[in-house]
Order: sequence, then structure tokens, then C-alpha cells
Amino acid sequence: MKVLVVGGGGREHALVSSISKSKQVTKIYCAPGNAGIAQLAECVDIGVMEFDKLTDFALKEKIDLTVVAPDDPLVAGAVDAFEAKGLRAFGPRKNAAILEGSKAFSKDLMKKYNIPTAAYENFDNAEDALKYLETAKMPIVLKADGLALGKGVLICNTLSEAREGVKSIMLDKRFGSAGNKMVIEEYMTGREVSVLSFVDGKTILPMTSAQDHKRAMDGDKGLNTGGMGTFSPSPFYTEEVDEFCRKYIYQPTVDAMAAEGREFKGIIFFGLMLTENGPRVLEYNARFGDPEAQVVLPRMNNDIIEVMEACIDGKLDDINLDFEDNAAVCVVLASEGYPVKYDKGYKISGLEKFKDKDTCFVFHAGTAFKDNETVTNGGRVLGVTALGKDLITARKNAYEAVDWIEFDNKYFRHDIGKAIDEAQID
Ligand code: AMP
Ligand code: GLY
Repeated sequence: MKVLVVGGGGREHALVSSISKSKQVTKIYCAPGNAGIAQLAECVDIGVMEFDKLTDFALKEKIDLTVVAPDDPLVAGAVDAFEAKGLRAFGPRKNAAILEGSKAFSKDLMKKYNIPTAAYENFDNAEDALKYLETAKMPIVLKADGLALGKGVLICNTLSEAREGVKSIMLDKRFGSAGNKMVIEEYMTGREVSVLSFVDGKTILPMTSAQDHKRAMDGDKGLNTGGMGTFSPSPFYTEEVDEFCRKYIYQPTVDAMAAEGREFKGIIFFGLMLTENGPRVLEYNARFGDPEAQVVLPRMNNDIIEVMEACIDGKLDDINLDFEDNAAVCVVLASEGYPVKYDKGYKISGLEKFKDKDTCFVFHAGTAFKDNETVTNGGRVLGVTALGKDLITARKNAYEAVDWIEFDNKYFRHDIGKAIDEAQID
């Protein structure tokens, strides 16, 4: 079987790595891929939004299955483009990817189907939003409606900050057209957990839980990023929480999408907050998380292609997901200055130390191959993932492996998985 993966970051490297273990797969292509992915797949120089080129390539190479991994092409209808040419593709169609593509849509869906989330109002003009703020309780959360690289959320402590936020989203268009509409919602407190799940339109199979670290600096300081590190499982995601989420959040979301005529097939990523009053949905994504995939996929024992095909064919109820009873920690090695301004093109050394290791992996996020050397080529450069019998061991292994890698400008958080210690105390 020939598989094409669309994307080129750490998530896609983790996906390609899982796909390469499938017995059915004979050849993997990745568009555009990166220097790490190139060790497992043939990289094709086509961008993720170039649907005509991607589908022509899939026809020409007789690709049996295409996996569309990033949010932008999914929300823009990549899966529909493949299907229109008679090709099989894994991921939600455009009418279902709206679950991530519009926060106003997802909030309205949750309200209509009683799925627990923060109280909110949607706005399509700044004047009404500013008026609403006058009587709102602070802190308050402002969200640009559309995709904004995970950065379209502003938490405002005071009324004047919130006013500035509304102006920057809706008038100055800080996040571009993503800010044509916005959501203003209640500020919640609690632990955050990510749960990724396979969905076939009616059945949903949640994977093991994970936790991300979105802020750039130690102690959750600094700007929001795409994610600076993850661990899995979350010690706070108890059986009781799982039971609640399956009953009141996961299945109801899948059923709600089906009832709306927007059958969802692919991955639903539930961003949850465990509040005093129970789990609440912070956000939905319509894809694997990055770097959540880097800690979840290495713990999965299933043949991922079999699971993806079951999603497309509506046969997920035949599958038993099986995760190792271990733990994983991923520390992102970034370029100093990320997420704002950083230099690229530095030589990376130490990558060979991961060769043939089966408990330590280095997933490439922003790398390129230049003059026979692997060089930095993005803000997030590498994800160092280690397994361990438990979270503490996995974290120790990950931070040891972080030291194997050197490049100018190397920057990482030192406190990925700090919550693991707090869980011991709780
Ligand atoms: P999102 O992209 O919607 O996940 O938001 C990014 C981050 O903002 C989340 O991971 C939370 O840390 C925070 N956040 C989002 N919504 C809320 C909320 N209603 N209350 C508190 N924090 C929130
Ligand atoms: N790590 C968060 C995301 O993929 O959206």
C-alpha cells in the first residue's frame, strides 16, 4: 500500500514513523516533509495548500491513502479535493473540519447539544463586543473565530485590556480574517488535558491523554506558542474524568456533528479543562495535536493504517485501541526568540545518537538538509521524546537526550512535566 502524508512538522514525523511500522505499507511519501521525515519517506516538494498538485501527484503515483495532518488544508477542504478525484483520504471533510475552523460554530454546537463548555457570546462587530464588555466579569477570554496558528486567544485581566483586545482582533485584524468574528467567553480555572480520538462518523475511540505546555518560557511565562513540550498520560485524567467525558462530551460531539449533517471522520482533539465543576471543553481541533502526537503515537500498539481505514469505512467498532502501560515526555528544542523572531540555518549535531534507540526518538519539526548537513529551519526545530515505565522516568530520559543535541540558538523549557511532581503531592 502506498501512503501520502500531507504536512511537514514534528506531528507529521511522528505520524510517518507510526505509518512506517504498518505491515500493509510499502511506500510512504510526504509533502512537503522535512529532513527527519526524509529518512522514512520520500519527500515531495508540494505545499500543503496546493490541492491540485497534491491530488495530481496522488493520481500519478497511485496513492492508496492520503493522510491530511494540518489544520489549514483540512479546514480549506483538502479531503474533499482528494475525494472529488476518487482518492481515499483520512481526515474530516470541509463541512466537518469547521469544528476547528470556526470557534463561533463550535461554541454554538456545544450550546445546542448541552456539551459542557465556558459560557460565551459570539460577535461579528466590534461595537457590540465592546458594549458587552461593559457588564462582563473579569478576567475574560477573547477568541478570534478562525485559525490563528494557536495564537488567537487573549486572556484579559482588566476591562481596558479587554477593550484593547477586541480592537486588535476586530479592527486592527491582528489575526487577519480569523478576526472577522469573535467569541467572548467566561474565564475558567483548572488543569488542562488534551485527548485525541479516532472518529468514524458515529463511533469514537479516545486515545491515551496528554498535556501540552503552550507558553514559551519556564513557569508558563511568555507568549503562547504551538507547544513547547508534552507528556502522556496525564495523571489528572482519572477514570472518573474519562467516564464523564465519554458520556457528556465525546459521544455527544460526534452525534451532534452527525445530526447537523456534518458527519465527522478523522481525529477530534478535545482540549479540556478540569474545573471544580467537572470537565469543560476549551476547544476542539480536527487533527492530531503537535506535539501531542509525539507522545501519544509512540505509545500506541495498533497498526495505525488499520485504524485510519476503519475510520473512513465506518468500522471503528471493530477496533480495540491498545496503548502501552508506560509514559512518554516530549521536550521541544526551539530557536531562541521563537515565537517572535529567530535565526535559522544553524548546523544540528548529535542526531546520530538516536539511531537504533527504541525508547528515545527525535522528531524533526523545522529542519532542512543543506550541503550534506541537517540545519535548523524553523521556530520549533526538534521534539525529543523518551519513553519510560512511568512519567518521572520518561522525563528523566527525555532531558538526558536533550543534551545529546547541539545547535546555535538552541532553546527549550526546563520544566516540561512539572505537573507530574504536583500530581504526587495532590
Ligand atoms: P485554545 O486555543 O482555545 O485552546 O486556547 C489557548 C489556551 O488559552 C488554552 O490552552 C487555555 O490555556 C487558555 N484558555 C482558552 N479558553 C479559556 C477559558 N475559557 N478560560 C481560561 N483559559 C482559557
Ligand atoms: N499543541 C496544540 C495543538 O496542536 O493545537
